[in-house]
Amino acid sequence: MDFRSAVAKLVEEATGLDFETVNRLVEIPPQEDMGDYAFPCFTLAKTMHKAPNMIASDLAGNEKMSASWLSKIEAKGPYLNFFVDRGAFAKEVLSEVLTQGTAFGSSDEGEGKTVIVEFSSPNIAKPFHVGHAFTTILGHSLARIYEKLGYKVVRMNHLGDYGTQFGKLITAYRLWGDEEALEKDPITELLRIYVKFHEEEKNDPSLTTSARENFKKLEDGCAEEVALWQKFRDMSLVVFNALYERMGVTFDNYNGESYYAKMADQVVSMLKEKGLLVESEGAQVVDLEEFGVPPCIILKSDGTTIYGTRDIAAILYRDENYHFDKNIYVVGIPQALHFKQVFSVLKKAGYACADKCEHVGFGLVKFQNMKFSTRDGNIVLLEELLDESVAKTYELIKANAEARNTDMSEDMLREIAEKVGLGAVIYTYVKAGRERDIIFSWDTMLDFEGDTAPYLIYTYARTKSILRKAQEQGFVPEKAGSELLKLLNGDEEFACVKMINDLPEAIKKAAGSNEPFMVSRAVSGIARAFNRFYNNCSILGGEDNERKEARLALCRAVCDAIETGTYLLGISVVEQM
Ligand code: ARG
Repeated sequence: MDFRSAVAKLVEEATGLDFETVNRLVEIPPQEDMGDYAFPCFTLAKTMHKAPNMIASDLAGNEKMSASWLSKIEAKGPYLNFFVDRGAFAKEVLSEVLTQGTAFGSSDEGEGKTVIVEFSSPNIAKPFHVGHAFTTILGHSLARIYEKLGYKVVRMNHLGDYGTQFGKLITAYRLWGDEEALEKDPITELLRIYVKFHEEEKNDPSLTTSARENFKKLEDGCAEEVALWQKFRDMSLVVFNALYERMGVTFDNYNGESYYAKMADQVVSMLKEKGLLVESEGAQVVDLEEFGVPPCIILKSDGTTIYGTRDIAAILYRDENYHFDKNIYVVGIPQALHFKQVFSVLKKAGYACADKCEHVGFGLVKFQNMKFSTRDGNIVLLEELLDESVAKTYELIKANAEARNTDMSEDMLREIAEKVGLGAVIYTYVKAGRERDIIFSWDTMLDFEGDTAPYLIYTYARTKSILRKAQEQGFVPEKAGSELLKLLNGDEEFACVKMINDLPEAIKKAAGSNEPFMVSRAVSGIARAFNRFYNNCSILGGEDNERKEARLALCRAVCDAIETGTYLLGISVVEQM
């Protein structure tokens, strides 16, 4: 239940003010003795011609201001403080989770609406590095979050599969390509010949000419060049798809830049028709002074289109084929200006869809005391980061299992390590606001007590193990609607229920701001609160069986809430750890 709105509803009924205004004003007080929700009366003073303190005390006495889930309403200065009846609150919240299970937090706010989430978008024949992981992980999470809220989501991978570099690759491949190496590790081989091309080009201008000719042939659709390009693309996708599969990431559409390059002519003629193309140093550009950004180049002086032109074509394609309500681009902050230009061109051309496009930027990835056996000095490959994380996690859980004498098969240890190790990496990407830079450090990300995926997954496994043990002893969690859920009114229990109750709101906020960390923060709050409860209250101990079953219900709800939240982040849980 959305208690915040329920509080607003009461105030609305008592004051006659409109709901939206009231709802916006409801606060969560900073201190417990100020209640669970508060309504500041300052804004009412004007309309009601009364001092805020007076309004607060009048409202506190108003008989309309009561509800079964409230224990008291108190005026404190200009504030109206609402105290929730803990037992009724627990019953209400837990019943919802127990009924919905992992569907908890779903909503229909997105019904009938389509969101395009463009993410990952790596470049063909280039290594998939930790920066691509940022967009991949954020985008995957956002797609799940929107889906949870009832939106139809289209996941798009705007592959970088077009450009003059493919002319260079074709030339390089014909001269130095090693078929065997290509089969074995395509991206490494393609990178090798690409780098070699640039080295050799310095002393051999004929290479430049050859590359230009090959690109031209590719553009003109010459069979041999297209076949090579296709081969590079297919081979790269095999590598990328293996990574996607490992992380559970999927796409609906892999139309890359090459696909939209074909539509660039239409963009050019549309802009020409609207009289928006002007010449500048030989190039055709759209002036964007009124948007406060530099002109957007549409056609280069040699008549070829560029990255931006293809992005404009892509938006028009998406608008026509998906009629999107939102089109978001999960791409690093350095491309902010590029997107501003692209969106502005469409706005200037009168397209309403321009306002539905949004660039969702993110920061940089850094490493603290971490060494990788990277082939290329500067970049860290996602695969290496994942492998290393899994290997380290394996050592930790193996040692832990040995210390606790739990018999876990090698297969099981490996499976758990894979999920937890991946989770640790993913969580590091989504645990803070996306525009902040990320600093990876093994100590931080694999800390089983810290704000980490291992901690969340461990807590989940703990709830599972309690539920299993309970079942062995013949205890079952209280069911939704049970009056006995009202027994859950202790401090730790209340704190835990409150955290669970915050999750649906956090999911909505995450979508509203395209910030998965709203969800990660909520889930980690639930895990913390649960562990505090677990450490202070015995769940299966004692003689009071009714309390036991009520507490088991809380345990069950925490379990479902953590599973819900981690799923939205792209993290898998394990039943045992
Ligand atoms: N391929 C580009 C890169 O790796 C990112 C593409 C971003 N998406 C777009 N529609 N421009 O930097």
